[in-house]
Amino acid sequence: MSPFRLTRTLPEDATGAALRADVLHGLTRTPKELPPKWFYDARGSELFEEITRLPEYYPTRAEREILIDRAAEIAAATGARTLVELGSGSSEKTRHLLRALDDRSTLESYVPVDVSESALTGAAEALLTEYPALRIHALIADFTREITLPETPGPRLVAFLGGTVGNLLPAERTRFLHAVRGLLEPGDALLLGTDLVKEEDVLVRAYDDAAGVTAEFNRNVLNVLARELDADVDPGDFDHVALWDREREWIEMRLRARTAVTVKIPELDLVVPFDEGEELRTEVSAKFRREGVYAELTDAGLTPAEWWTDRAGRFALSLATVTG
Ligand code: SAH
Ligand code: TRP
Repeated sequence: MSPFRLTRTLPEDATGAALRADVLHGLTRTPKELPPKWFYDARGSELFEEITRLPEYYPTRAEREILIDRAAEIAAATGARTLVELGSGSSEKTRHLLRALDDRSTLESYVPVDVSESALTGAAEALLTEYPALRIHALIADFTREITLPETPGPRLVAFLGGTVGNLLPAERTRFLHAVRGLLEPGDALLLGTDLVKEEDVLVRAYDDAAGVTAEFNRNVLNVLARELDADVDPGDFDHVALWDREREWIEMRLRARTAVTVKIPELDLVVPFDEGEELRTEVSAKFRREGVYAELTDAGLTPAEWWTDRAGRFALSLATVTG
């Protein structure tokens, strides 16, 4: 079995510095907010995997259905020798793409990119038992910052699944899509997974499940602050809130203080009072329509080529190409 390579594009303590900067900025502004990438420590990555199996969380099953139906077409259309995947997590659904590319004998390299080292290591170990000859070059990187890909053979297919593009704020999303375009050359392609606008109750349930797993996932960001920054904070002081913003067409995840509480982070000289009921925004999850996705892809210099949905029309995969 070939070993996989794991590259950290940020120095180890850059993570700490970035977390400190985000916490200082986000907890001292009004309304309070934190960027979602801090959910994904080892426990957060595990909880997310649990979310993907919840009866209420349809996006994973819907996207898997599309991948199963379309993987052969995607492999034929792209002829990719390298599959790059941003926010790859467990790479579980990605297997359908890897298999289809391998069936056409074009696949040589897989480049999973994630902030979660534990997710990357777990995914690479599992994949190598299935594809012993696959060259896996995992990158620990933040895809909202600069991404430098390793030298791997083209054509490249960049996959961004799970609806994670919806977790970027609109300005970040524009910047991100332009940056992705900058990584690609003529003949390369982007495969983008987007959750679609639908009935409010279905959406809200997907982010507020009966078993409380999403609530635990949301609160986990406070455990990350406690562990990494020695923050004096009790996740039990906060309620999980998921609501649909019909203007902006996104689900917003928040943590709401049950009573007046103070979060203390001595190493940042930070004392953060929360009023009773005050909320901290931890994530948005935008929902899309075809026109919007096509407009954003086109604006970034990409050419929308295919739009596939699951049979129930809940989730979409778009394939966009780069023309010279
Ligand atoms: N693609 C998988 C996982 C989606 S969850 C799926 O579809 O099921 C989002 C993934 O993106 C997590 O693995 C998380 O660790 C990663 N992630 C979130 N923000 C990130 C960032 N800024 N840079 C890199 N990875 C990020
Ligand atoms: N990309 C996923 C989504 O927007 C991430 C996610 C699912 C998530 N459930 C969550 C993030 C709950 C925070 C809280 O669907």
